[in-house]
Amino acid sequence: MRVDQPVRGIKVGRNDPCPCGSGKKFKRCCLATAEVVRPKVHPQKPKIRLKSAVDIVGIRRAGQLVVATLDLVESRIAPGIATDEINQWVHDYTIQNHGIPAPLNYRGFPKSVCVSINEVICHGIPGPQRLKDGDIVNIDVTTILDGYYADANKTFFVGEPGPEARKIVDVARQSLKEGIAMIRPGHSVGDIGWAIQAYAEGQGCSVVRDFVGHGVGFDFHEPPQIPHFGQRGDGARLVPGMVFTIEPMINLGGYDLIILDDQWTAVTKDGSLSAQFEQTILVTEEGSESLTPYPL
Ligand code: MF3
Ligand code: CO
Ligand code: CO
Repeated sequence: MRVDQPVRGIKVGRNDPCPCGSGKKFKRCCLATAEVVRPKVHPQKPKIRLKSAVDIVGIRRAGQLVVATLDLVESRIAPGIATDEINQWVHDYTIQNHGIPAPLNYRGFPKSVCVSINEVICHGIPGPQRLKDGDIVNIDVTTILDGYYADANKTFFVGEPGPEARKIVDVARQSLKEGIAMIRPGHSVGDIGWAIQAYAEGQGCSVVRDFVGHGVGFDFHEPPQIPHFGQRGDGARLVPGMVFTIEPMINLGGYDLIILDDQWTAVTKDGSLSAQFEQTILVTEEGSESLTPYPL
């Protein structure tokens, strides 16, 4: 962040208290850190915009609202609930907390959250369909708060899961953990995908190819793309200040998919179950920090 630029979305004067809560003046705390140790872009890939300490405070706040929204949905989800009701919960809770639901009207998406049931891989559009006992359902929440974006999702059981539901949800959850474990400065984007693919395929599952993780924070989708498959050492090197999602979509059968006539809903071609977990992750000097932390 440069001194002569306004802090994106938050107005903080140089002599104001630092928004990180340290009690120090902004110019003596995060502003100084941001100026001294952070270049604004990735040293090799200038399209990748790095986040300053102030930006990270903003994305972390957006992320806390995303996680609280997922918690709200989790506490209410049950057989018989219509996916449109979930949309209303997410929309109202986001607005009440001064956020904006990023999906609403994004490239024509008509609702405030993606709700993806069973063989739906992602981008399910809420509507009259009701959840039933034994379903798995992914809820993908992206929230804009003070101009900053955070993006996370979770797959929930509705009522009592069967053995296939348990398996695919466990493998998807562990896939995200395997990806996060690879994040540290000096590792590459390809290392993340390699670890996820090796784990998920080792469990007899497949990794969706057509959707990837992405840079996030200033916008919904920024460079770089983060494939959940690939080769060690491929792609951009990870550097502190990068913020991106990891969001592996894991299928019980093959990875091929079909997009429905609504132009959004992605389903497995073979009708097999699909599950996903997503978090927004910051690359730190030591490794990584989730900006949408929930237990995995
Ligand atoms: N939240 C999704 C992601 O993880 C994107 C949803 S786009 C929408 O990238 F328009 F469907 F909301
Ligand atoms: Co995402
Ligand atoms: Co998402």
